[in-house]
Amino acid sequence: MSLIDRIAALEAEVEKAQARTVEEVERFRVAMMGRNGAITELFEAFKQVAGEEKRLLGQRMNQLKQSAQARFEELRSGISETKPVSGPSIDLTAPALTEPVGSLHPITIVRQRIVDVFTRIGYTVSQGPEVEDDHHNFSALNFPPDHPARDMQDTFFVEGGELALRTHTSSVQVRVMESSKPPIRTISPGRVYRNEAISARAHCMFHQVEALYVDKGVSFAELKGTLDYFANSMFGPEVNIRLRPSYFPFTEPSAEVDMSCTICVGAGCNICKQSGWVEIMGCGMVDPAVLVNCGIDAEVYSGFALGMGVERIAQLIYRVPDLRMYWENDVRFLDQFTAGTFRG
Ligand code: DAH
Repeated sequence: MSLIDRIAALEAEVEKAQARTVEEVERFRVAMMGRNGAITELFEAFKQVAGEEKRLLGQRMNQLKQSAQARFEELRSGISETKPVSGPSIDLTAPALTEPVGSLHPITIVRQRIVDVFTRIGYTVSQGPEVEDDHHNFSALNFPPDHPARDMQDTFFVEGGELALRTHTSSVQVRVMESSKPPIRTISPGRVYRNEAISARAHCMFHQVEALYVDKGVSFAELKGTLDYFANSMFGPEVNIRLRPSYFPFTEPSAEVDMSCTICVGAGCNICKQSGWVEIMGCGMVDPAVLVNCGIDAEVYSGFALGMGVERIAQLIYRVPDLRMYWENDVRFLDQFTAGTFRG
């Protein structure tokens, strides 16, 4: 091939040169301008040329050399040094992406757990309305009209004054006794309302679970056995309970139930106010007058009842420092609860 044809062929090759990788750019440079590259060899051959031809070819060869250099720079700048050689970049040390998962509200988790503990020993679940009448919330439960005991519970009355938001789930006891015959074993979980100023320690709405057992010959000993069973199932075999005499219009005798503090295990902390005991519920033997109010023969039947606050139980499990957190629905709070967090 004549020198002029070789120049023309290389010009065409330079013009159509392509490169996708750093390696390909380098291959182009070596093939053209390397020590044994085509253009370098061309300059070797050019040494033999003389006269007028040397002048003409020389110009064209210098142009070829320049355009090869320019093409090389063009190809190189089209490829960024940091670009991976091939395939997408994968950071093997990056933490795995997690799918966001929902979780149950802590009050739901604790309520379900309480319901579970009671249904295991034969209790049914019953419900009543949150907007309640005076009869079910007060009168049938032995709160006489104008009796100061009504002041124990600051009631939200519904316009008209006939109805109110129930102040406790004890109202459901009345509904169950009115509509069914003993033996009765039932629990009533639900939301209750009281006219309280909202603070870290009090709220105008909260949750209770009520339990009622009515049959022939139900004794206080059975109440104590049930309380023990509940505390141990809920909090573990090491916890103890104690009863303190108390007063509720619908039970006689009445008691307040304390449990050994699960947080300090009796050593004294701010949850148990340094006493080693925390109050977990109220209870007692159903007052015979209540049985009669609900159409049950108090000469034949006796029963016990108990009522607890779900937020209180939840606090002993999760140590939530402020009751308002249960209602704010801050996902950073809600995200922390899964059923697996339970002890026992
Ligand atoms: N109803 C009571 C309250 O809201 C709690 C309670 C106490 C329920 C004693 C009971 C009981 O069934 O026997 O404060």
